[in-house]
Amino acid sequence: MNYIQEYNRYRNLVEEWIKNRVKVPDLPEKSLFEAMRYSLTAGGKRLRPVLSLAVCDMLGGDMEGVMPFACAIELIHTYSLIHDDLPCMDNDDFRRGKPTNHKVFGEAKAILAGDALLNTACELMLDAVLDDRDEPLNKAAAARIIMEAAGASGMVAGQVIDLESEDAPVSLDVLCRMHRLKTGALIRASILSSARLCRADERTWEALDRYGQHIGMAFQIKDDLLDLEGDAAVTGKSTGSDEKNQKSTFVTVLGAKRAKELLEETVQEAVKALDNLQNAGFLARTAAYIAEREG
Ligand code: IPE
Ligand code: IPE
Ligand code: MG
Ligand code: MG
Ligand code: MG
Repeated sequence: MNYIQEYNRYRNLVEEWIKNRVKVPDLPEKSLFEAMRYSLTAGGKRLRPVLSLAVCDMLGGDMEGVMPFACAIELIHTYSLIHDDLPCMDNDDFRRGKPTNHKVFGEAKAILAGDALLNTACELMLDAVLDDRDEPLNKAAAARIIMEAAGASGMVAGQVIDLESEDAPVSLDVLCRMHRLKTGALIRASILSSARLCRADERTWEALDRYGQHIGMAFQIKDDLLDLEGDAAVTGKSTGSDEKNQKSTFVTVLGAKRAKELLEETVQEAVKALDNLQNAGFLARTAAYIAEREG
């Protein structure tokens, strides 16, 4: 199997699992579920759950046990995108190749669909904790890693720095913190929650942590570059959003040329972190994919 086939194998498992868990019931509040499913099944790359499953494979863990956590991260990520696109945030009209959630369902329902995705993510993880008669605490610890990365010590905090960086250029230090939190934290958590579930030893954990931090940063540097130079038909979202909102990004702070060099350096650091790990080929290739991707 080549890299793309392997990636798609993981991705298909994720699609299947999500499709079967988040359905539209015939209830008076049906439109809430339609709004949740609309964004959830619009066709994201599923990078975060793919990373969780790949780490699980690498460590010889139990894929079924990891799946609820991997998909919970995707639900949280999707909620973050719905809210990120709102008029009070980035005010964007396209996402995952379709009109943004609030364009279709209205702002109020888009906010509520995001809220409900976050809660559903927690429910999925807690179900997995409660179903584990042997070692529920290990699963609880994985859920803790994910929720911490999503909230006030992670993604939400990064989004606040991002909002406040509009119109007011930030230092490189603050920019790095913003990217580490708003994007890096959830990517790192997709790796470390899986490492925890699969009982990685300390040396493996530390290597995966370094890898996760570097690819998280690389991912957002590339996202900033794609906002400038990408093709909206491939990214599935409007380009030029950062300029429109006068955001501080790697492009505005360092310039596109230096941002590209930093992207390459960061990917190399990520790959180096895997040096002493067995079966890390897919993860190494994923670091390269993050820099090469056009969408
Ligand atoms: C976009 O994430 C938002 C960022 C954190 C940069 P992705 O590029 O992973 O979006 P999808 O999930 O593929 O739509
Ligand atoms: C947002 O970063 C990251 C999130 C936490 C959602 P961006 O605002 O740059 O993400 P895109 O470019 O809209 O996907
Ligand atoms: Mg944003
Ligand atoms: Mg945005
Ligand atoms: Mg962006």
